[in-house]
Amino acid sequence: MTGRLEGKVAIITGAGCVGPGWGNGRAAAVLFAREGARVLAVDKNSDSMDETLERARAEGGTIVPFACDVTDTAQVAAMVAACRDAFGRVDILVNNVGGSAPGGPVELSEEQWERQIDFNLGSVFLACKHVLPVMEAQGGGAIVNTASTSGIRWTGAAQVGYASAKAGVIQFSRVTAVQYAKRNIRVNTVVPGQMHTPMVEARLAGQRAGGDVDALLKTRLARIPLGFMGDGRDTAAAALFLASDEARFVTGTEIVVDGGMSARCD
Ligand SMILES: NC(=O)c1ccc[n+]([C@@H]2O[C@H](COP(=O)([O-])OP(=O)(O)OC[C@H]3O[C@@H](n4cnc5c(N)ncnc54)[C@H](O)[C@@H]3O)[C@@H](O)[C@H]2O)c1
Repeated sequence: MTGRLEGKVAIITGAGCVGPGWGNGRAAAVLFAREGARVLAVDKNSDSMDETLERARAEGGTIVPFACDVTDTAQVAAMVAACRDAFGRVDILVNNVGGSAPGGPVELSEEQWERQIDFNLGSVFLACKHVLPVMEAQGGGAIVNTASTSGIRWTGAAQVGYASAKAGVIQFSRVTAVQYAKRNIRVNTVVPGQMHTPMVEARLAGQRAGGDVDALLKTRLARIPLGFMGDGRDTAAAALFLASDEARFVTGTEIVVDGGMSARCD
């Protein structure tokens, strides 16, 4: 299918990736461009966006990079201004920046706890703070936030800062959805499960399995009823639906993309 976002302008944060392949933000940026959106691809690490830009442009998409730390309010304001300068408007915001740090309340330092909340939830707050007035002035828009099954379930490791922040993303989205519904702005959340994105090799295996990627993948796979691991393209497909006009009657809710993992209890 093509043209599902024809005429729309989208900001996608975390549009790079920690390695080659399909991270969630990269996949969304490429898919949204393929579906006709003009995309401002945002990441604090410009180099990480090279592959994103290449893939999107190879498909004839319109995509412009913007370097920005989305935990900094001045930089987020500049991001929104850059999108309006480049494309004149903002119809879609995908908040995808985030990541986990291991540890429970005792293991995490106060600084790590604050960083996890700021990184995963504060970044969503800041982007919404700066984008909502623009969408309201335009007469509408769609926001898709990225949570995690760690925000709704125990998922195999204590990562209490991450889990708490991602739970916060879900409720932040619901409350904002109701507040802005009459202003024609929809707010929804994608809840990815244990995806096989490059982040697994780059970071998680070191944290959880002493660098043994195969062991970690095996453990993650064993939890998934469908029997295979999704990647960033599966997360992006759900985000595309929520961002598009096909979801015009969908707000304040979540799509869980986890191969059935969170539905099981055994
Ligand atoms: N991969 C998974 O299994 C999984 C599962 C559930 C949820 N998620 C969530 O999906 C999102 C993306 O995950 P991923 O695995 O694709 O991640 P990733 O780490 O590969 O990509 C995230 C990108 O965000 C960028 N970034 C980091 N901090 C930033 C900041 N302050 N400002 C701007 N850019 C910043 C990084 O440079 C990177 O390119 C995260 O919110 C993550 O919590 C991932």
